[in-house]
Amino acid sequence: MTAPADITSRTPADSAVTLAHIMSEHDTNLYGTVHGGVVMKLIDDAAAAAAGRHAGVPAVTVSVEEMTFLAPVRAGDLLTVRAQVDHAGRTSMDVTVAVTAERWNLTGPVTRAATAHLVFVAVDADGQPHRVPALHPATPADRRRQARARRHRRTTETRS
Ligand SMILES: CC(C)(COP(=O)(O)OP(=O)(O)OC[C@H]1O[C@@H](n2cnc3c(N)ncnc32)[C@H](O)[C@@H]1OP(=O)(O)O)[C@@H](O)C(=O)NCCC(=O)NCCS
Repeated sequence: MTAPADITSRTPADSAVTLAHIMSEHDTNLYGTVHGGVVMKLIDDAAAAAAGRHAGVPAVTVSVEEMTFLAPVRAGDLLTVRAQVDHAGRTSMDVTVAVTAERWNLTGPVTRAATAHLVFVAVDADGQPHRVPALHPATPADRRRQARARRHRRTTETRS
């Protein structure tokens, strides 16, 4: 279980992913707002891409630590999903995702629609955990986010 030879560390920006998607009526529930599950799928996709970029190998979702819906999303909204790795362990990565929505005419304010925190594990061709490069925070905000993810890890490890 070794990290890719040419990659020993990465910053959060190196692996950050932004995914944009226009919601359609097919995504809505009976109330006319977008299904939470549709938003969760986009979150998982963006987070998996960020984790895979950091790891240099595919990464699978192992845990959804936090998933908060802050405002309804509607058909026609432009959803922007931003994911970045905030903490890297030996084979696992904490990924934070922020989701914003813009109304269809794109003239209104950008609304924070959801936030999420997921844990991914890098896997080899046999689906076994694979070592990931270290994460090197490059900015004060990166350091704060890494510290928060570490604190969260310690809290959940104490609980289990
Ligand atoms: C991910 C998987 C390969 C991990 O296998 P495992 O035998 O649990 O691996 P380990 O116990 O060695 O743990 C590997 C890492 O995952 C972390 N981990 C395992 N379970 C975790 C959990 N519930 N929450 C957070 N981290 C977890 C461990 O802390 C460890 O981190 P580290 O290497 O950075 O220290 C395995 O659980 C799996 O295949 N799960 C299914 C993944 C999947 O299909 N996801 C899609 C769901 S639709």
